[in-house]
Amino acid sequence: MTTRPRPGRRRWPARPDGIAFGSDYNPEQWPETTWLEDVRLMGEAGVNLVTVGVFAWARLQPRPDTWDFGWLDRVLDLLASNDIAVDLATATASPPPWFSLLHPESLPVNAGGTRLGIGSRQHICPSSPAFRDAAAVLVEQLATRYRTHPAVVMWHIGNEYGDHVQQCFCDVSAADFRAWLRRRHLTLDALNEAWTTDVWSGRLGDWAEVMPPREAPAPLNPALLVDWRRFSSDALLACYENERAILARMTPDLPVTTNFMRLNDGIDHRSWAASLDLVSVDLYPDPADPASIAEAALNHDLMRSLGDGRPWLLMEQARSAVDWRPVNMPKRPEQMRALSLAAVGRGADGIMFFQWRGSRGGPEAFHSVLLPVGGTATRGWRATVALGGELRLLAEVTGSRVPAEAALIVDWESWWALDTVGHPSDRLRYRDQVLGWYRPLHAANLAVDIRGPGEDLSAYRLVVAPNLFLVDPGAARGLGRFVEDGGVLVVGPYSGVVDPDHHVRDGHYPGLLRDLIGVHWEEVWPIQDGDVGVRFASGRTARARIWRDALDLDGATAVASYADGELEGWPAITRHAVGRGEAWYLGCVLDEIGMAGLLEDVWRTAGVAPVAEVPPGVEVSRRVGDAAEYLFFVNHATSERTISPPGPGLEMLTGTRVGREVDLHLPSSGVAILRLPRRPV
Ligand code: GAL
Repeated sequence: MTTRPRPGRRRWPARPDGIAFGSDYNPEQWPETTWLEDVRLMGEAGVNLVTVGVFAWARLQPRPDTWDFGWLDRVLDLLASNDIAVDLATATASPPPWFSLLHPESLPVNAGGTRLGIGSRQHICPSSPAFRDAAAVLVEQLATRYRTHPAVVMWHIGNEYGDHVQQCFCDVSAADFRAWLRRRHLTLDALNEAWTTDVWSGRLGDWAEVMPPREAPAPLNPALLVDWRRFSSDALLACYENERAILARMTPDLPVTTNFMRLNDGIDHRSWAASLDLVSVDLYPDPADPASIAEAALNHDLMRSLGDGRPWLLMEQARSAVDWRPVNMPKRPEQMRALSLAAVGRGADGIMFFQWRGSRGGPEAFHSVLLPVGGTATRGWRATVALGGELRLLAEVTGSRVPAEAALIVDWESWWALDTVGHPSDRLRYRDQVLGWYRPLHAANLAVDIRGPGEDLSAYRLVVAPNLFLVDPGAARGLGRFVEDGGVLVVGPYSGVVDPDHHVRDGHYPGLLRDLIGVHWEEVWPIQDGDVGVRFASGRTARARIWRDALDLDGATAVASYADGELEGWPAITRHAVGRGEAWYLGCVLDEIGMAGLLEDVWRTAGVAPVAEVPPGVEVSRRVGDAAEYLFFVNHATSERTISPPGPGLEMLTGTRVGREVDLHLPSSGVAILRLPRRPV
């Protein structure tokens, strides 16, 4: 387990002023004669920050004992003299071929025992000492050379940790796993106890018998799997920390980040977040999928929350199409603008892209870029320039915060544990649950933070937890305190089932949450196909799918019951008054309308209100600064929407004054940003 740095190291780069706008810039792929044109056009588009060198290791260290920084000196000087700030990559995301051939044991091995080859990227065993040592040498070289370079304002460590290799099953990783387990469990007896190894004759007599969860004839031990996921996240984090420690020592004034990917189960983002000075993320919502809009917003909220509410950086997105889906649909320029400004509305102080200029060949030649292959006489370039111009108008928004009175719980340990095998149904998937609960909150424009179950929740009135399959005693106590102090908590199905060692507690489910929730269940009755009816006490109806915890009341009252099926008449949704608050439990998966209705019931009970009343399809978010506040309206609907401004203010993109009496007409993908006098948060 990695030690975490002090919180409070969190910082934003000193430059650029205003909203950061730019992209990955890979000048090593182009002749130097192109660079002058690059910086000239960056100036034309308003680019003020570029990420340089992400995949440049082979150029910087062409042989084990040969270094070549001349080209990077020239690029950085050119960018500095054109007032373009640089997020300098540590270039460790993809080792050069010579390195992997010199250290073949540093190549990752998959669960089936196949060692992966070179020729692509991220071909690294996270536990490899050879890789970590070579990365440290490279980072020291870069930090020594560029620590005072006027262009460099921040560091970018690695790239998308866990994107291609989340886990490595080689012998080096096995040894590292054993060392990690010794730190966590201390003795072999404790490990045997934690993993319940007497099941299927798995008792371990020696640490050397501990193996990674390689391909096996039958299901693997879920406790092993969960520890393995914890370890794998920590092994990647140790790679990041290896580099961060050098930078913290050598360039203490430069903030450090690494680019997270959209909500995924590869790493425990929360345990990583404390090591980032600023949170950054790569987001590639599918422009052809309307559901990707809410998912993008969820990611915005997650990144803001991982940074404890501080502004975050959208490090990469696509101007138009990507090149890695089976079918890569382009993004309309208006869509690109809308998604970019929506990110600013949810707390981003920087909008960046992959990448500035297209590769001339290689696997990413057909990915959209800021400067299309057709040059400046293109729709794509016009969209780039237009966005740069609009972001300049929003400089004063930087640093403002996004207030939220509701939180949604995402917990990677529950995710890893729920997505193992041996459950009553394999259809209750963690990510689906999170999205299924987030979507109606997004549609209702309720501001939500994304928190962990063990975090301080006292700032919120409402906390919703789509699933708490794995609960530790501290988190259970924290949730109890939150409710006793007047909060409204809603917990989703199949919660409170195991502890951090994946042990089932004696007594009924939901284990540690039972007193708080006021229900118990003995059995789960999955819904195999189709759905069953749910009737609320109010007379409203909904449909339940996938899951039913067969609930018995222990002090809670039923809010809704099953209207048909094997559990007809049994409680489906309950509420339980505890202290000054209430704990609600949903024992099934509701259809989208049912979920929206339930969540509206609870946010009204908790006294939380949407950011503003707007027509369906319009996303509205609120940032609050010292002197003013900003309402971002983004019309994701396919036709025009009309919005009544909540008060007199300035529409910042057009510079027009608006008042309550003048409606705003937003076309599809249209955006309006109102500056209003600050109201109390
Ligand atoms: C990201 C990656 C970039 C680029 C991009 C293409 O995942 O960080 O290097 O490959 O995808 O969409």
